[in-house]
Amino acid sequence: MDRILIVDDEERMRAVVGAFLEERGFEVREADCGRAAVEVAEEFRPHVIVMDLVMPDISGIEAMSEVLKFLPDCKVIFVTAFGTIESAVDAMKQGAYDYITKPFRNDDLLMRIERALETIRLRDQIQILQDQLDEKYGLDNIVGASPPMRKVFELVRRAAPRDVTVFITGETGTGKELIAKAIHRHSPRRDKRFVAINCSAIPESLTESELFGHERGAFTDAKGRRIGKFEEADGGTLFLDEVCYLSPQAQLKLLRAIQEKEITRVGGTGSIRVDVRIV
Ligand SMILES: Nc1ncnc2c1ncn2[C@@H]1O[C@H](COP(=O)(O)OP(=O)(O)OP(=O)(O)O)[C@@H](O)[C@H]1O
Ligand SMILES: [Mg+2]
Repeated sequence: MDRILIVDDEERMRAVVGAFLEERGFEVREADCGRAAVEVAEEFRPHVIVMDLVMPDISGIEAMSEVLKFLPDCKVIFVTAFGTIESAVDAMKQGAYDYITKPFRNDDLLMRIERALETIRLRDQIQILQDQLDEKYGLDNIVGASPPMRKVFELVRRAAPRDVTVFITGETGTGKELIAKAIHRHSPRRDKRFVAINCSAIPESLTESELFGHERGAFTDAKGRRIGKFEEADGGTLFLDEVCYLSPQAQLKLLRAIQEKEITRVGGTGSIRVDVRIV
């Protein structure tokens, strides 16, 4: 059950909002001042706090920063009186999730709470997926006890954290792609995209456009602007699978992109800076 903490020095306000939220199926607790809010939050661990901005003891913002120290994922929605928008903006800067001005409709508050909870759910899901990826591409899960494979793991550990270009060779089916992903997952770029392109599967005439994108009208079929794999992978890792199949001409253009960290879309004039790690 989702837990909501209501903090306000006005008892009536707590009672009305509390009853409304309980009716909607939330588990609700109340606190009548900032200090009490911190104490209750420690034990109740609310997902969302609906808190008055101005209270007699410590301010709502102070209470929030105390709570966020031990509940960093908690979402705080401030309730402010009309005409104190500035302090609400200030509260947002300090890490509040949202604010609502008095007087407000309960439905409006409910919508904001639901949105805060949705944010928490999405974050949790991302974390779960992240953990699954870590497990899948963790070196512990890549099979190999032989000295050559141990050497490979050692190289991955050394190369991954550094922003160096990596060239992987090996016979078919030996796990080159697996290792490429492991390098990405162990690198500082792990939260950005891993984009793979199979260089042997693109027709020669489209290689450049696939890698660097094109502007509208660059060639007969270029109906609109299209972003290439380099731009898609910006900030992350670009895996050029079977890179040896690229034509020498395409390899020259690739070299420029790697050296200069700049690309030009086909039919485009200006160059675009890209921050991509190549494997
Ligand atoms: N050491 C390993 N431990 C666990 N799974 C592996 C290992 N090596 C390969 N695999 C699995 O074998 C399959 C082929 O691996 P992958 O696609 O990475 O090989 P590849 O070297 O890129 O092959 P190709 O040259 O055919 O493209 C994948 O499903 C991969 O997960
Ligand atoms: Mg492969």
